[in-house]
Amino acid sequence: MQELSRIPTPEPQGEAAAHVPVLLSEAVDGLSLSPDACVYDGTLGAAGHTRAILALLGSAGRLFASDRDGDALKLARTIADPRLTLLHADFGDVLEHPETHLPHGTRFDAMLFDLGISSRQIDPRSGRGFSFQALNDLLDMRMDTRQPLTAQTILNEWEYEDLKRIFYTYGEERYAPHIAERIVEARAQEPLTTVGQLNALLKSHPKRVYQALRIAVNDELGSLERMLRSFPDRLNPGGRCAIIAFHSLEDRMVKHAFKDSPKLGVITKRPITPGEMELASNPRSRSAKLRVAERIQTDDKAIDL
Ligand SMILES: C[S@@+](CC[C@H](N)C(=O)[O-])C[C@H]1O[C@@H](n2cnc3c(N)ncnc32)[C@H](O)[C@@H]1O
Repeated sequence: MQELSRIPTPEPQGEAAAHVPVLLSEAVDGLSLSPDACVYDGTLGAAGHTRAILALLGSAGRLFASDRDGDALKLARTIADPRLTLLHADFGDVLEHPETHLPHGTRFDAMLFDLGISSRQIDPRSGRGFSFQALNDLLDMRMDTRQPLTAQTILNEWEYEDLKRIFYTYGEERYAPHIAERIVEARAQEPLTTVGQLNALLKSHPKRVYQALRIAVNDELGSLERMLRSFPDRLNPGGRCAIIAFHSLEDRMVKHAFKDSPKLGVITKRPITPGEMELASNPRSRSAKLRVAERIQTDDKAIDL
């Protein structure tokens, strides 16, 4: 671990204190931070990684942290650290259109993305429709409640073929055709609005179907693709990018993007996974895979923002 900054970061309180960040030291160590680094944490969540990064930065360091979920930003406002700038945005947009989100000419020495959903979002008490246990919740599942597409829209309006495809691809659900068929039949009687209504149509465990819907509602693979395409041009030479993926589709996309880019050197030949202690104390870490890449100097001129 590197030298800790002398600027104290307040200890997490309440909800943020309950969240356990995955692969915390592995991911932050992988960024190889210098005290004056300019860093981007694309997935603020409950700010576990954000706080650890702030603790390693000196007074000249800067950290930009984004989340699509307005609740994550509300929670993080208590940090009140002059080195931290919060952005309510999709990381794909931030990196593809930096001119709308970042000060002119911003380039990063390190970036971190801890993909997927936070413990707070999946909590059955969140009222957001992510959990199959919250039977009275509306089928919403939007990380960013400003977007119009919800799980209700998908379930009530998407064609049978599209439902089948998302359950197969994003949920790896082998009963995908059967489930899609039941949904189409049920919605002809009455619209599907609640978690309880959807669960009543599922014979197998609901987890895979909920995962698939969440990935589709938030176009998670689309955001990841835009991020993977644009991040190398936003990194300074020698700058690091660490990505934690929880889904095999995501991890495959990260692996190929790192390997195929002439602008990157791969630091982790194999993905880093949680050790036994972390697995025992945090079951959510079970499927986590961390990969790190470094921006190499190439002949092409860096594109100005
Ligand atoms: C696994 S949690 C991050 C947890 C965080 N690293 C911590 O230690 O507390 C993922 C977070 O990223 C956000 N998120 C997911 N996809 C996003 C995207 N494309 N752009 C911005 N935020 C995103 C989610 O809303 C969620 O809060």
